[in-house]
Amino acid sequence: MTTSESVPPAARPQVGDDLDLRIESLAFGGNGVARVPAGERSYVVFVRDAVPGDLVRARVTKRKRDYAEARTVEVLEAGPDRIAPVAPHPGAPWQILPYERQLEIKHAQVEDALRRLGHLDGFELEPIIPAAAQWRYRNKLEYSFGQGSEGELICGFHAPGSWSRIESLDDCLLASERGNELRTRALDALRAQRLRPYDRREQTGFLRNLVVREGTRTGQSQIRLVTSPGPFDTDAFIAALEDVDSIIWTQAPGVAETTSGGRDELLYGRPTIEEEVCGMRFSLSSEAFFQTNTVMAEALYGVVGEYAALQGWERIYDLCCGIGTIGLSLAPRAAEVTGVEIVPEAVEDARRNARSNELANARFIDGDVRVVLKELAERGERPDVVVVDPPRAGLSRKVVGRIAEASPKRIVYVSCNPTTFAPNAAQLGEAGYRVVKVRAVDQFPQTPHIECVALLERA
Ligand SMILES: C[S@@+](CC[C@H](N)C(=O)[O-])C[C@H]1O[C@@H](n2cnc3c(N)ncnc32)[C@H](O)[C@@H]1O
Repeated sequence: MTTSESVPPAARPQVGDDLDLRIESLAFGGNGVARVPAGERSYVVFVRDAVPGDLVRARVTKRKRDYAEARTVEVLEAGPDRIAPVAPHPGAPWQILPYERQLEIKHAQVEDALRRLGHLDGFELEPIIPAAAQWRYRNKLEYSFGQGSEGELICGFHAPGSWSRIESLDDCLLASERGNELRTRALDALRAQRLRPYDRREQTGFLRNLVVREGTRTGQSQIRLVTSPGPFDTDAFIAALEDVDSIIWTQAPGVAETTSGGRDELLYGRPTIEEEVCGMRFSLSSEAFFQTNTVMAEALYGVVGEYAALQGWERIYDLCCGIGTIGLSLAPRAAEVTGVEIVPEAVEDARRNARSNELANARFIDGDVRVVLKELAERGERPDVVVVDPPRAGLSRKVVGRIAEASPKRIVYVSCNPTTFAPNAAQLGEAGYRVVKVRAVDQFPQTPHIECVALLERA
């Protein structure tokens, strides 16, 4: 990356400029990388909707000291890999690449992150596991409400890079057909009530988000409607959706768009739905995280099980355990499982899941992993194997330190972001752990998102 000295402000493009750019490569996160001459060096531009080899006309949307961001407005020359998209979808930006190429890039980016960001080598990079289905694989979709060109209520996704503009869609190709049908019925029912979408700029209107969640294997479904506080005809809404298993209404105050938080009211059915993974049945509440690709979650957990290499006597910590899926899938092959999770509803789910799957050797602790690890250490508890599956931001140095102090023989790190896993792996390296092997599992075809599992062992 260039430095501020080498790129004088005058040489940097302005927001709104159109640039003709040749795309060199793909960055983590999926944008094309191009360079424009700037003084004696070059200035990096990250270009949305562009793939290597493309020559694109791109409009600058953000300008920083060291780089700019731009979006493709026209493809002037298509790169050798570019293919026609199946249908416009802001959640599927990599559909302009053949699936095989997507897999190669993800595999290479895991390696690149470890070598370049983590300064690690000597590990085995196993072949990426391709997804079983390239479309309609998501069990959960979060839609936003907006206004169409005729003033009609629409439900879809934010236009790329926009927090206020919503693009309507008839068929979300990442959702199941049933999931699409539920969204359409919910939208029709809300249109019939002449309800307005919430406008964050004006802070007016009512409808914010619609979350459709399904048990891919069980066929169960949940609708969660997020609104500003205020009344609406819940009976009519329920009547339009009475074949779903759970309808939740969340009234969220404030301006921020978030589908967590707010006051939940169960309008219909049960508060949770169920899903099957690894031959077990799991109950999940609307607040709890659950892997969004059920089939590939099973493949991911399969790699975790293989890397954990359990013999039956081990004490396992499942850190950031969600509803307990990883720990419970390992429990039959271990002496004891301790799950730690910060969302209380997810911990309740995990406990219920242990009971319903008749696993008496698993306990779940509600709390911040940073605090709970300290408490467990003070009580003299020690794990043999730690499995950790943090959010995208990865682990803080403190938590890495506490895991290392607990001194497990093996650490199985599940990462949804190799760029935060790599520095964590390097920190664990300083504490005496070596990355033995890594494997990416493609959970999110048509997107740049990468999920991988790594085995680290005490040197
Ligand atoms: C990527 S999810 C993984 C969940 C689970 N392992 C699974 O496979 O479904 C990360 C989980 O970490 C939890 N989490 C985030 N920060 C945490 C913290 N500081 N302490 C404990 N859990 C945390 C989140 O609530 C979420 O459930």
